[in-house]
This record gives sequence, C-alpha cells and structure tokens, in this order.
Amino acid sequence: MNIIVHEESKQFHLCNDYISYVMYVQPNGELGQLYFGKKIHDREDFSHLVNCCLMAVTPYYDESTFFSLEKNRQEYPSFGTGDFGTPAFKIIDQNGSGVSCFKYVTYSISSVKKKLPGLPATYADEGEALSLEIELKDDVNDMQLFLTYSIFKDYPVITRSARFVNGGAEEAVLDKALSLCLDLPDSDYEWIQFSGAWARERNVITKKLDKGITAVESRRGHSGANENPFVIIKRPNTDETNGEAMGFSLLYSGNFIMQAESDADGKLRILSGIHPDTFSWILKSGESFVTPESVITWSDKGLNGLSQTIHSLYNNHLVRGKWKNSERPILLNNWEATYMDFTEESILKIASKAKEAGAELFVLDDGWFGARDDDSKGLGDWVENPDKLPEGIKGLAEKVEAMGLKFGFWIEPEMVNPDSDLYRTHPDWAFSIPGRNRTLSRHQMVLDYSREEVVNYIHDMLYRILKDSKVSYIKWDMNRSITECFSRELSGREQGMVYHKYILGVYSLYERLMSEFPDILFESCASGGGRFDAGMLYYAPQAWCSDNTDGEDRIFIQYGTSYGYPISSMGAHVSAVPNQQTGRTVPITMRGDVAMFGAFGYELDLNHISEEEFKIVQSQIRFVKEHRKLLQYGTLYRLRSPFEADQAAWMVVSQDKKEAILAVYTMRAVINKLPGYLKLQGLDPDAEYKCNGKKYYGDELMQMGIPMNQECISGYCINNDGSSAAIVFKAE
Ligand code: DGJ
Repeated sequence: MNIIVHEESKQFHLCNDYISYVMYVQPNGELGQLYFGKKIHDREDFSHLVNCCLMAVTPYYDESTFFSLEKNRQEYPSFGTGDFGTPAFKIIDQNGSGVSCFKYVTYSISSVKKKLPGLPATYADEGEALSLEIELKDDVNDMQLFLTYSIFKDYPVITRSARFVNGGAEEAVLDKALSLCLDLPDSDYEWIQFSGAWARERNVITKKLDKGITAVESRRGHSGANENPFVIIKRPNTDETNGEAMGFSLLYSGNFIMQAESDADGKLRILSGIHPDTFSWILKSGESFVTPESVITWSDKGLNGLSQTIHSLYNNHLVRGKWKNSERPILLNNWEATYMDFTEESILKIASKAKEAGAELFVLDDGWFGARDDDSKGLGDWVENPDKLPEGIKGLAEKVEAMGLKFGFWIEPEMVNPDSDLYRTHPDWAFSIPGRNRTLSRHQMVLDYSREEVVNYIHDMLYRILKDSKVSYIKWDMNRSITECFSRELSGREQGMVYHKYILGVYSLYERLMSEFPDILFESCASGGGRFDAGMLYYAPQAWCSDNTDGEDRIFIQYGTSYGYPISSMGAHVSAVPNQQTGRTVPITMRGDVAMFGAFGYELDLNHISEEEFKIVQSQIRFVKEHRKLLQYGTLYRLRSPFEADQAAWMVVSQDKKEAILAVYTMRAVINKLPGYLKLQGLDPDAEYKCNGKKYYGDELMQMGIPMNQECISGYCINNDGSSAAIVFKAE
C-alpha cells in the first residue's frame, strides 16, 4: 500500500497489491481523474492518459492552455465553468452565483484513518490503511474543500469523503454536497441495482448503461426498501466468477442518490451522496460540513469476488465493538407468534419452549409499553404496560435470564402515535408543517430528531429501562417514511437542513446507547429491510432483512442482499406456516436451510408445532451451533441465482478451505428434464472432502460439480426433503 505524490507533475497515485487510483492537478487548478482499476506501475508522469480533443464548440479554460473541463475527467466537478455533466456539489454565494472553482493548495498523508464527526465510516488500525487529504480553495469566496481518500492495505477498496469549510466572512449555502464522483473513460458497463419494496426487498436488477442518466435514489428520509445505497457496475461479460466489476456503497441511512451518467464522448460519471433534492445546508463563516463516506470496491474476480471484499471489509472495518466478528445468538422473537396480544405468562411459555429447542436469546417485540395494544396508540411512551409486564422489562428479563436465555426487546424510538402521552405533551416534537395536513402512516408521526432535546428525552426514557435491566439485545425499528419534514425549531431558511440533521440525530442516539451499553447487540429494522444500508452497520451489526419470512421469498431477498452486505448482518428467521405474508406453506427444513445463512432465529410459538417439527427445530439449532462461524463468516459463493433459475444455490467456505456448506433450494421442480450440474467454488482442488460417508476431491466438485436432481442431491446429504438441502463438506 502506498500513496505516491509526484510533486513536479502534481499527480497522486494511491495503490496497493490490487488497485491503482491516479489523479492530477489540472491546468486550471482543479483536480482531475486519470486512472482507477487494476494495479499499474507507477511513473513520474501519467499525463499522457489525458484524452482531450477540442472541437469547434468545446468550451476551454483559457487561450493559453485550451484546457477543457468538458473533455477531461474530473474528481469533484462543479457546474457552470465548462463541465456540463452532473456536478458533485453546488455552493450558492451571497451574490446568488452557483459557480465555484476549487484550486489545488496542498496535500497531507496520514496513516491514521480519521473518524467522520457524527457519521459512520470504515476504520483502520495503524498500518492497515493510508489516507490522503487534498486541500483546495476557491479564491473568490474563500471556501475551502478537503477531499479525503483512503486506501486499505488488504482490500481493493478506496473510500472517499469531502469536507467544506467556509473560510469567508459571508454565509454560503451548500445546495449539494455529494460524497463521490468517479469519472471513467468508457461506458461499456452494465449497472446492477437492488430495488424492491416492503416485503420484497433487494431484487437484483441488471441493465445496460446507455447514454444519459441511470439512478437510484431515496427521498423517504431513510435509505428505504425501494432502492438501496449500493450499486454495481460490471463489464458485460462479467459473471459471478470472472471479470471486472466495481461496487459503490454509500455509508448513509438518509436520503441518497447513486447515479451513472454516460456523456456524448462515452465517458461515464458515477456519483453518490446525500440526495440534493432534499438538502440545503447553511454554512456560516468558519463552519464546516462533512459528507458521508463513500466506498468504492473493485474486483477482477467477478461479482462473488466483489461481494467477498465488501463482506470482509464490513466485518473487519465497519462493525465495531463486542459484536465484531462474533457469532450471533440464535434468537426467538415473539412478533409473528403473538403480535401485541400477550401477557408475561404467555411470553414466558414461548421463551421456555425456545430454551428447550436450544435458542440462546428471547426477543420481546412491539406492544410492551404505554397503551400499545394495537398500532394506533402508545408509540413514544416508553414505559412498561403493567397489565402485560407487572414487573416491567427488568422483571421479565430476570425471569428469562433465569431460564438460561439472554433477553432483548423492541423499540421504535424515532416515532410517535398522535394517540400517546408524548404527543399530547409535545405535539411540536413531531414533524408537521403549520397549517398543512399531516400525513400519517401506520397511525404514526416521525419525531423531530434534528432537535437535541427530543433525542435527549427519548434517550433518557430508554436509559431508565436499560440501566438496571439485564438486556443483551435491542431491535430498533422505524416503520414509516418521513413526510412534512419541517422542524419547529429552525428558521424558514434552515429547513433544508432537517433531513440530514434528522439522521445525525438517529446516529447520535445510537452512539450514545452503544457507549453506555457496549455489550448490547443492536439489530436495525425499518418495516423489515427498509433501512438495510452500510451506514447502519456501523451501529447495528445486523438488520432485519424483511417482514416477509416466507422461506422461498427469503431466498430471493437474502440472495440480493448478499451482493452488498455480509451474511452475519442478515437477520433471518424461521416462521410459522402458512406464512403470514404470502399464505404459502414451505417445509420447515427449507425455512431453516434458508434462515441459517444469516443471523439465525425463529419467529413463531414453538408450542404450536408438531413434535416431529420440534425435533427438526432442535436439530437445526444444533446444526447452526456446530457450524455457526462458517455459516455467518465463511467466504460466500453465489452459485445459482433464484432470479434466473428454478433452483438456487450458494455455499460458504472456511478460510482454510477445509470445510464448506453448500445449500441448494428447489423452488419449482421441473419434470422430465435433466437439471444439469452445479459446480462448487472456493475449495482446495487437491483436498479430499468427506460428505455423507463418501469422499470427493475438491477439483471434481469444482470442475464437474454435482448433478442437481433430487436423487443425486440426496446422496450428498442426510436431510433432503426435496425442496432444499444443506450439505457439509469436510477435508481431513
Ligand atoms: C415491523 C417489523 O419489521 C416487525 O418485525 C415488527 O417488529 C413490527 N414492526 C412491530 O411493530
């Protein structure tokens, strides 16, 4: 890993064993992009890579250089001086002008990867990453811009963020401040986005990049189930195993945009950051603004290679504290078992059966506080309902702990029902605009987390419960998108700051609770997978994937999620059948075989299943306990996509390649057709793997594979009911 600065040619080359990232100071002083991709040799001067040809209509900087912003690839472009593509930022000066020109001043290199104040970011110990900060200045308004780039020693990854400092005497308005602009020389890529909706999150959608703009975005106030702040571009011939791909993740949980723009010259501009439509930040003299971090991942080993890098990066350099690289407790959550209709007695019955099955953690979901007997009331009143919990969370937690289970509970701290004591006391704490209709969703409103006093109040209520109860886990839910985003505390001119201040408020509450209760495992949730983003993983190392717990649908959801997020982060539970969302009956074996590739758990009353099924549950839990490290932290290979076939398959391989677990799922059995072979990946070709009493060499499993018909699959595994199989391979 190195950051090479060529002072003479004013060029910067960040490189490690995998990648190179080269940029330079252009003739007008702004920063330009020269190269990003597989590692290349360094040289004193890369300026031959500038590809510029001026035509009659091309705007140029001045007559002495004939340098053109339109033709050159930029690092962090402004608008209005010759680059007609989408700009990375926009500053409105006092005179109303939106034109900027940030010229190179100096740089600094550091072996410390600095934290981003109030924001999530990847971290690194000394020797694991190097950071380059480039300082630029606009001489007209005295604004400063600091662009920070970090390169990790062991990952084909670059992280970026930008910081604006208003060094002028006048106030300025930052109308747009993205985290990333990457200009690439050609557009011959396919774009993969992970779109969906509530209960069908993160479908894999691939399209050829064409001229113009391709984008995904959220204006919901949270990252959302509909789009995800993670996209991939790949060469058309790249598949799961071979070929070049780049991943772009934004470590942010609020409104975002991820965009690709292919221009007339065929250049491609990738942008990502806070959504400019709902953002406008007032920067007073002396104040600064830091953008969220953007993570660029590169792979020449296909999409599996790309995902494996991301998984390892997040597990080792994003998730913090006790739960970093820790096996996740097998939990039972009572939501689909009882909804809000429970008593302490009925809860303890469910917990006791969970313990008998081998679970390790019991989670009490929604309905334990205030007047919360249904979703129309009580949100915001974080005081136990004595009719349901006579001895409060403290008493219940003690009883559950006495059974030998850990205890956790559900909160939705950002919300309030109008029918609640909190709202009756502080109606101005919920977002709404004077004189306008307040839009409801699930009978609730969103608390104004841009206000410190609101965050403090909720903190104190939760702290009161947590400080003397035995709580090991918290599920932090968020069940509606933001509308009428207006803070009563801010002036009219400041309302463009509310969305971002809101998410900063959410992060600050997380940070506070995490430092006060460092052992608690947080699981984030937003009506299922509505806030499954990398920013959240900095605080909550796992996220509830979806409210759709149907065993078959979950294959699609978890498959799509796996492109950008590690298995350890995917909350995945076995629920009752017929499934409460889809009405489908999927065998308990298949429900287990899917959920075990995640932060595993159950979401049903185990008292209500047959004895035979209960035995299967016990054996599933034994299996997960035995193989948990491999299931949650093994190297993941996606082998067959449910989006493209009637069968799906993935596998995990241990770091030493001595152990692997293959999972095969048949969603639709096709009659009278040979289903072909499934080639395994990531094994040691020379190792002999034991599997169900037989032995196979790694090379034959990878070169020829396994015939995918049911009889053949049965030969490899002990449990195979025709719809799914989890097969263990173990080398001596
Ligand atoms: C939505 C979540 O996704 C569910 O799992 C459950 O916690 C409910 N909210 C509770 O209201």
